[in-house]
Amino acid sequence: MVNSNVKKTVISIGSTACLCLLLLLVAVQHHRVQVEKVTGEDTGTRALDAQLSGAPEKRGFSAYLSKLTRGRREVEKPARSSASSADPAPVEDISADDIFIAVKTTKKFHQPRLNLLLDTWISRNAQQTYIFTDGEDEELKKKIGSHAINTNCSAAHSRQALSCKMAVEYDKFIESGKKWFCHVDDDNYVNVPSLVKFLSQYPHTQDMYLGKPSLDRPIEATERLGDNKMKPVNFWFATGGAGFCVSRGLALKMSPWASGGHFMNTAEKIRLPDDCTIGYIIESVLKVPLTRSNLFHSHLENLQQVQRSEIHKQITLSYGMFENKSNIINLKGAFPVEEDPSRFKSVHCLLYPDTPWCPPQVAF
Ligand SMILES: *[C@@H]1O[C@H](CO)[C@@H](O)[C@H](O)[C@H]1NC(C)=O
Ligand SMILES: *[C@@H]1O[C@H](CO)[C@@H](O)[C@H](O)[C@H]1NC(C)=O
Repeated sequence: MVNSNVKKTVISIGSTACLCLLLLLVAVQHHRVQVEKVTGEDTGTRALDAQLSGAPEKRGFSAYLSKLTRGRREVEKPARSSASSADPAPVEDISADDIFIAVKTTKKFHQPRLNLLLDTWISRNAQQTYIFTDGEDEELKKKIGSHAINTNCSAAHSRQALSCKMAVEYDKFIESGKKWFCHVDDDNYVNVPSLVKFLSQYPHTQDMYLGKPSLDRPIEATERLGDNKMKPVNFWFATGGAGFCVSRGLALKMSPWASGGHFMNTAEKIRLPDDCTIGYIIESVLKVPLTRSNLFHSHLENLQQVQRSEIHKQITLSYGMFENKSNIINLKGAFPVEEDPSRFKSVHCLLYPDTPWCPPQVAF
């Protein structure tokens, strides 16, 4: 039985794709998962159920759990400085305007999560940021106008609802004509100058899929071929909770599997959440490998490992909560943890000390 704390945590952490991973990590910690009792009734377990339907039998599931444990060790390793942080020469001169940043949220998180983002990183990047949600919100419209996009998708945290939003994100990006598509969740801080610097190392016309995997090996899934035939497939995917980017060149090639209603059909074929489906289309169908970067961060990693001196180099940050213990970056910043539990306000004041609401600069 998945205990109630686990459920609570999953619900509170909310709208992150591949929640299955979180749930499984938590489950591994607690050693009390009984697979056959997972019914898929609430938010997180539906994603788990999605994963399980791809696992042939329980033995496969145990293997999957140990794989995730290894995956967790992997993501908990301190962020190494990757080749990309050594400031290689840019191959393209791009600006923030060339990036389409999609933030996925849900109406119940407009207040608790989105306002923090609007006050911090989005305030400086309103031109390239689009909020994909599932309900009308006049307050939000007042703040960002047409950049608040009601997807009309269900507000449930189901695999289908998540894929429905990703499908709209994809279509809006194609429509925008911008060079890069980047997806983040509503618990991500995006350091846009760092993102621009990172993307400028790659040609947007070529096939680029950039992000951070949450496992240390490819995910194993089952593709449904019709006639009740199944085919096992292995591929890497960038975890949606850390944010990922796709070049326009590659996004255009994804069209037969991602545009219009195709994304939902593709997601159904492998029964995995949205970010895994993106990985499936890119790695498994189009044979384009994921390019990894340790500069993307999700709440599934130990965020304490991000070095204070390296914060300004990171592309995304996140925060999470488990049994009243918060998983946050270690930053003695402008605000105490009580006033700024996610640390995003403090990060923002570190990066932009001239922000009017930041306290006058003091040595932290
Ligand atoms: C959602 O529905 C409204 C009202 O029918 C419509 O104006 C809007 O374009 C729809 N959104 C999307 C993303 O299709
Ligand atoms: C978390 O904190 C709240 C209030 O501070 C308390 O009521 C609750 O029991 C705590 N939960 C756990 C799992 O410690």
